[in-house]
Amino acid sequence: MFDNLTDWIELTLRWVHIVTGAAWIGTSFYFNWLNNHIRPMEVPEEGVAGDLWSVHGGHFYRVVKYRVAPPKLPKILHWFKWEAYFTWISGFSLLGVAYYLHADTMVVDRGVYPLEGWQAVAIGVSVLAGGWLTYHFLCKSPLGKKPVPFAILGFVLMTALAYGLVHLFGSRAAYIHMGALIGTIMAANVFFVIIPNQRVMVDAMTRGEEPEAAKGLEAAQRSLHNNYFTLPVLFIMVSNHYPMTYGHKWNWAILAGISLAGALTRHWFNLRGQGRKNAYLLPIAAAGMVAMAFVTMPKSYDDHRPVEFAEVRAILEARCVQCHSATPTFEGFATAPKGVMFDTPQQIASMAQRINTQVVVTRVMPLGNLTHITEEERDVLGAWFHQGAPTE
Ligand code: HEC
Repeated sequence: MFDNLTDWIELTLRWVHIVTGAAWIGTSFYFNWLNNHIRPMEVPEEGVAGDLWSVHGGHFYRVVKYRVAPPKLPKILHWFKWEAYFTWISGFSLLGVAYYLHADTMVVDRGVYPLEGWQAVAIGVSVLAGGWLTYHFLCKSPLGKKPVPFAILGFVLMTALAYGLVHLFGSRAAYIHMGALIGTIMAANVFFVIIPNQRVMVDAMTRGEEPEAAKGLEAAQRSLHNNYFTLPVLFIMVSNHYPMTYGHKWNWAILAGISLAGALTRHWFNLRGQGRKNAYLLPIAAAGMVAMAFVTMPKSYDDHRPVEFAEVRAILEARCVQCHSATPTFEGFATAPKGVMFDTPQQIASMAQRINTQVVVTRVMPLGNLTHITEEERDVLGAWFHQGAPTE
């Protein structure tokens, strides 16, 4: 009963997380696109940077962008913040339910580093808080005013953190913490900088004073960082479905590579929006993705002796059915995880591809290698799959 309930809580949180995240990233993309497409008006207007016309859903719209702020505040001014807050709240809750609640198995991997569950949770939460503080003070330091060195240092620090995390946590948990950190930085940018600065500007205007342009600039800087974070953070969030990334032995470098490809792609869009043509950014990003596909190419089993199905069955009996069965015997598992069961030859046959991915390519199963599978056994499973996964 409890398992079923947590599955439903997890499903609901994930659903809310994706919906609010889509709303947040959607508005972020939209405003970024607006900024890139606003052009000076035909008849210039005092204090106005430009305007833009668009048609959508059968209606015509005109947006005017002010250099700093309009001379007089309108009665109704829309703010965009709840998308960000709810994305973070649902995301952090999901991290709690999906990972921290079962930190022993979901975060810790004893083959990587022998942590206790609570220690892993403490490290995870510290990474989020410490990562944000480091970023925040770097932004405020003189380096924050130099975009290129700042971006390079940020990338190096993030990659170092990814390297550290894959040597402390299970690889999926390491990846998800990198995603959670970027998401935390993005939401904290909205909560601690962008919204308060906008508030100060609006308050000054209500008092009839000139709003301070520096506040607007600081908010714009954080907004720009968030813009470059969007594609990397989305990759990390979906990486959970791609064990060839987080399960690879160079997983930290793959995370860095795909994040870089994402940021370059974002940069290409930004340049294009500003009417600046660029011929090499997208090909570099694409070449990077192809190179990573080659690097993660699985090993060949062409020379392996023919494998009998009985051998495969014996390995699964010894290393997997403790959890993956209609009646699991492993402590803490009331039902088969993800509904994956190896009780019958049919079930095993239908799972051949996923068994290969999980056990051979990425080695994330058996979970935390709690059942001590050997290298030979992994090879037998890999060869069996490459021989067409016979069940005779
Ligand atoms: C200690 C319990 C445990 C053992 C032992 C174990 N697994 Fe798993 N397995 C899990 C859990 C938990 C999940 C779900 C992970 C998740 O949430 O994605 C899972 C998921 C899977 C999946 C589905 C992954 C996907 O999303 O496609 C496959 C396939 C799998 N395991 C295969 C195996 C094989 C093969 C073995 C034996 C070599 C094995 N597992 C041993 C706990 C276990």
